Amino acid sequence: MRLTGWAKRAETHPLRLLLDSEGRSDLVSFAIGVPPADSLPSRALARAFDRLLADPQALMLNPPSHELRRGITDLMAKRGVDCGPNTVFLTDGAQQALDLLVRLLVRPGDEVLVDPVTYTGMLMALQPSGGRASGVEGGAGQTMDLDALAKRLERGPRPAFIYTMADGHNPLGVSMGLDQRERLVELGHRHGVPIVEDDPYGWLDLDEEWLPPLHALNPDEVIYVGTFSKIAGPALRCGWILAPQGLRAKLSLVRDLAAIDSANLVQQALGDLLGRGELEASLTATRVELRRRRAWMLTALADHFSTPTWPSATWTSPNAGLFVWLQLAGVDAAARLPAAIERGVAYVPGSAFAVGSSEAELESALRLSFGGCDRAAIDIGVERLAEVLRS
Ligand SMILES: Cc1ncc(COP(=O)(O)O)c(C=O)c1O
Repeated sequence: MRLTGWAKRAETHPLRLLLDSEGRSDLVSFAIGVPPADSLPSRALARAFDRLLADPQALMLNPPSHELRRGITDLMAKRGVDCGPNTVFLTDGAQQALDLLVRLLVRPGDEVLVDPVTYTGMLMALQPSGGRASGVEGGAGQTMDLDALAKRLERGPRPAFIYTMADGHNPLGVSMGLDQRERLVELGHRHGVPIVEDDPYGWLDLDEEWLPPLHALNPDEVIYVGTFSKIAGPALRCGWILAPQGLRAKLSLVRDLAAIDSANLVQQALGDLLGRGELEASLTATRVELRRRRAWMLTALADHFSTPTWPSATWTSPNAGLFVWLQLAGVDAAARLPAAIERGVAYVPGSAFAVGSSEAELESALRLSFGGCDRAAIDIGVERLAEVLRS
């Protein structure tokens, strides 16, 4: 069979290999970015599905749930975003949102400016487009340096868009300060370059600082991508885009190429959940539990990755989201992964987030997700990790 060029080049991604080893009961997985299962709204959703399915009409093709779009509008208002239900475009998760945006905005040969390390799913979404991600320089463990971004924008070529995560960055675990947010949005505006803000972790602001998302600072030029994956459950496959009207109309055209509408029953159930105010309690419980898990992870890292064995180990202390970025020296994290999985601990090697030439520098870095592990798992997992990386 004759495949297209990019399909021929496409290989099974390392994240897929990790996903496939997830079910092992003896494995402590710091690999996948998941929230604590016990604090998700499973019982409230069961009641919502029950209510819905009492009426067979729920199983018919229904228009995108107005109730859910209204609920998302109310959620966004709490983050300082003033939008109406009609500005919310529902998707099957944030990954689909990124794919749709790439299809509409990236032409072959275009650059998309990204942080020096970035979300692998964005790099994957770019592959079929013929565009390419270009990492803007930044310090170790940091998002793009805005002076470097300003120079890139002045020098050209004009990128299709700037892609970033302002809160709980994946994989770095860091969040932008207010000045940084304002300057980034101002730079995008000055150079006429849209920003795509990917925000799965803004809802998991563990320190409750609640700085405004970039979209709140300029709703016309910052396209916002949200998802229920980290706050109501990744199995729901439901997300949303906030975009100007012109783009929204085109979004539904490209989405219809691959799927007639999004998973509507899930949308209706989530709409019911939000309409009854039942997401709030589980979101608070998720944040409380994540705060504990973050503390356990940081303590375990201090216990096992301190001097003298690891004189140059550093790690980020996230104030939002699920990730810690561990930077070591003299360790090939990707090469050690099979041995680590054998020993019963999984992580994502830093090189999975590399943008072009940054791969070599990331060899000794690891992304650790603390979201899916209780205290015992974190303690034993970090102990195994130190052991396997030392040997
Ligand atoms: C930054 C980022 N964007 C998008 C996604 C995809 O989210 P979804 O499960 O909604 O497709 C993830 C998932 O981990 C993510 O970390």
